[in-house]
Amino acid sequence: MKTIGVLTSGGDSQGMNAGVRAVVRTGLDEGFRMMGIFGGYKGLIDGNIRELFATDVSGIISRGGTFLKSARCLEFKEEPGIIKAVETCKKFGIDGIVVIGGDGSFRGARDLTLHGIPCVAMPGTIDNDIVCSDYTIGFDTALNIVADLVDRLRDTCYSHNRCSVVQIMGKNAGWVTLEGGIATGATCIIVPEVEFDFQKDVIDRIEEGKRLGKDSFIVMVSEGVFFNVKSNKNYQYVVDNDIDSPAKLAKAIEKATGVESRETILGHVQRGGSPTARDRIVAAEMGNYCVKLLKKGISNRVVVMKNEKIVDYDIVEALKMEKPFDVERLRMANSINI
Ligand code: F6P
Repeated sequence: MKTIGVLTSGGDSQGMNAGVRAVVRTGLDEGFRMMGIFGGYKGLIDGNIRELFATDVSGIISRGGTFLKSARCLEFKEEPGIIKAVETCKKFGIDGIVVIGGDGSFRGARDLTLHGIPCVAMPGTIDNDIVCSDYTIGFDTALNIVADLVDRLRDTCYSHNRCSVVQIMGKNAGWVTLEGGIATGATCIIVPEVEFDFQKDVIDRIEEGKRLGKDSFIVMVSEGVFFNVKSNKNYQYVVDNDIDSPAKLAKAIEKATGVESRETILGHVQRGGSPTARDRIVAAEMGNYCVKLLKKGISNRVVVMKNEKIVDYDIVEALKMEKPFDVERLRMANSINI
């Protein structure tokens, strides 16, 4: 193997740049020619590729987003797209690729490897929902942003004796909501993975807080709770009452408790900004590890974190693993927060 490509794919996350930097610098240090693939798998299909040198990745360790750009590419999910990507690799002399992204991106890495282009992948997403990894690059930064923003909401809620319903990112994953709720002391934490009862888990908790003397409240809810509301059996109240947005949830809380309520959707601000030291460091470790694997002739692996150690698994096996939601941790939050 002489030439290694690197790409970022799926939703961007803070620390992806630090990961690309580590891949490029380690690759150069190990004697490889390094190629940047711009725009994820789409860029690979279209040949949006150029050689990267050590200084091309200077100054990016502290920058959010990904200078390689990112995309979710439907074309690459079909055989003709994969074949086009393989042809591009041959054209540019790319013998191996490091992919940074979520589990959809891992599947792409597996498909490319099966088609003769050895790949390794590492997890970059704020959601921390990669089944085979305890940690994903971007999670810590997103969490700190959430904590900062919810603290600000709490200040104004406190002044006005209000309840703030805050929607957090996570279509299928409530990890940012859970950890964010622990970090900010949210009265209610509602995630897509765990069934909730509007009366018991929201209204009763707010009423109990009032009884104890509280007059302002934070309700944190993952965006996934509102997706496919009609078919979501975990949220009977939400379904029955057609609550398909944080605004409607805020109204329902106000009606039931008498506490004036407002909604806030944090949205994509959670994905931007300078990565924390933790995200930069984990990205550096994983990027370095990925290149070392390719150097040893090992591919079709995901490089992940288990018990604070960087390890690697077969991609196919890794995708089959499970990461059950930590319900005990939610209980802990609920027993501390009022
Ligand atoms: O996977 C990361 C994530 O930010 C999710 O939390 C969110 O549901 C999704 O991406 C949003 O995707 P997009 O940026 O394509 O709207």
